[in-house]
Amino acid sequence: MDMKPVPVREGNYNVQDAEGLRQGFDWEDVKKEFSWYKTGKVNMAYEAIDRHAEDPDKKDKTALLYSAPDREESVTFDQLRKRSNQFANILKKQDMKKGDRIFLFMPRSPEFYASFFGILKIGAIAGPLFEAFMEQAVRDRLEDSEARMLITTPELLERVPVDQLPDLEKIVLVGAENVDVENYIDFDKEMEKVSEDFDIEWVDLEDGMLLHYTSGSTGKPKGVYHVHHAMIQHYATGEWVIDLKEDDIYWCTADPGWVTGTSYGIFAPWLHGVTNVIRGGRFTPDAWYGTLEKYKVTIWYTAPTALRKLVSAGKDVVDQYDLSNLRHVMSVGEPLNPEVITWALEVMDLRIHDTWWMTETGAMLIVNLPCMDIRPGSMGKPIPGVVAAIVDNEGNELTPNQMGNLAIKEGWPSMMRAIWNNPGKFESYFINGWYVSGDSAYMDEDGYFWFQGRLDDVINTSGERVGPFEVESKLIEHPAVAEAGVIGKPDPERGEIIKAFITLNDGHEASEELLEDIRKFVKNGLSAHAAPREIEIKDTIPKTRSGKIMRRLLKSWELGLPTGDTSTLEE
Ligand code: WTA
Repeated sequence: MDMKPVPVREGNYNVQDAEGLRQGFDWEDVKKEFSWYKTGKVNMAYEAIDRHAEDPDKKDKTALLYSAPDREESVTFDQLRKRSNQFANILKKQDMKKGDRIFLFMPRSPEFYASFFGILKIGAIAGPLFEAFMEQAVRDRLEDSEARMLITTPELLERVPVDQLPDLEKIVLVGAENVDVENYIDFDKEMEKVSEDFDIEWVDLEDGMLLHYTSGSTGKPKGVYHVHHAMIQHYATGEWVIDLKEDDIYWCTADPGWVTGTSYGIFAPWLHGVTNVIRGGRFTPDAWYGTLEKYKVTIWYTAPTALRKLVSAGKDVVDQYDLSNLRHVMSVGEPLNPEVITWALEVMDLRIHDTWWMTETGAMLIVNLPCMDIRPGSMGKPIPGVVAAIVDNEGNELTPNQMGNLAIKEGWPSMMRAIWNNPGKFESYFINGWYVSGDSAYMDEDGYFWFQGRLDDVINTSGERVGPFEVESKLIEHPAVAEAGVIGKPDPERGEIIKAFITLNDGHEASEELLEDIRKFVKNGLSAHAAPREIEIKDTIPKTRSGKIMRRLLKSWELGLPTGDTSTLEE
């Protein structure tokens, strides 16, 4: 679908002239806005929370507006400062140190954010886990990171195979009043015992802050390692792209188990001292419109999957809510359909601003600034201070309109600094000075980038990144499954769904019950979003002579496309 550009609107945006900002831009100038520029010693928790709590005008301002079906709470910057200090004191009491990996596995809650900043305050590395993860997913991450401590709830603790994790020394339980908490640290009781004062551990810009596990096309999930330095890009994009201002009420719908939920659900809004809405519970159109209305949200950062669901819910639902405070909407995670842009113009009279980035990039890289014309279907242009290009497999730049690898010139501030315990994997992202994203795209003559697809087998289902290898590995643990190959199959609402092709072990008969059982097995072992929605039984799974599953061929079969080069196919 070819749509006319959606022209920029009149408005008092933080950036009025994108080209002007780009010219002569230097990240050093962003650093100068922070007091640590002179000392070189920094802590994200101080910049995001304590700095505002120390400001008499801001200390009692609401930092966190928390809303879940059974709980509602508002927390000021000063309260968040004190609670994270308390948690930092608990960590010290438990002998946790700078550089330790401390993981969080719990639903979004005020306790989550207090713990998260407590971890940063002692200079440790926080590892937030998506609350829907099941045992295998939890274990892989805790094992690889050699996490020393986990903060979780009694319900979620059931999915943590504690006895198989020798490095995991301590467990903190939130909401443990009615359970036997021997061997565990009780969050609520300990919080009462410790001081509200804490001396922050000042760290270097390049010291570790965060580990987010993410999937590639092969192997187990990889720990993407981010450092405090990233804050200058969270701050800058918060200003330019999210257009944050003092009085905004901001809502980012992502879970902090994913990078959007930390970079833009925690860092960007609080670096700007803005009131941040956090909503727990499931997605329904009424719940989400209700949240926008009730909290008078002014800026909203969400994902195409959610927007597509709102589109299907229809105009009648939108019309029941007062969304008049909403002034700016952004999207991330998957291609933003031009249809969704048209719909939002019609029913909400708002433009939707697509943004492109990845777990590895730490912050937004290609965006639609509020002061730019939007070309529906395009992800926009690189932010100031970032150079993007389309390159070939040797890292040579291609010309406009040629399709190739979307690549970023190495060295932007929020770039990952390592893959945990896996230097080889880290190196493999870089060719000839370019970070190669694995996305295919082209750039038009005016410098707008257009997403085309993934170049590897990574699946994007409802904006969540799933590695086929993880799903295949789980599938073959099922007693009936001999071999498995997993692909992403295009789906109008979810972007892609997970489709598995399997062969059965002798003695197992194909039946609906069996397929349902296999599906449940993956769901209960990994997570609901990683479970295949479709399973097809085959006589064989195509493999190369070296034994690699030919997912490309499976996909061509599924889509009825030409099968291409099959010369490496096993006899
Ligand atoms: C995809 C999420 C099209 C892309 C922040 C990328 C997008 C992967 C967009 C990263 C977009 C992200 N348009 N595709 N605007 N944004 N993607 O690591 O394939 O969960 O490589 O980071 O999502 O997913 P991740």
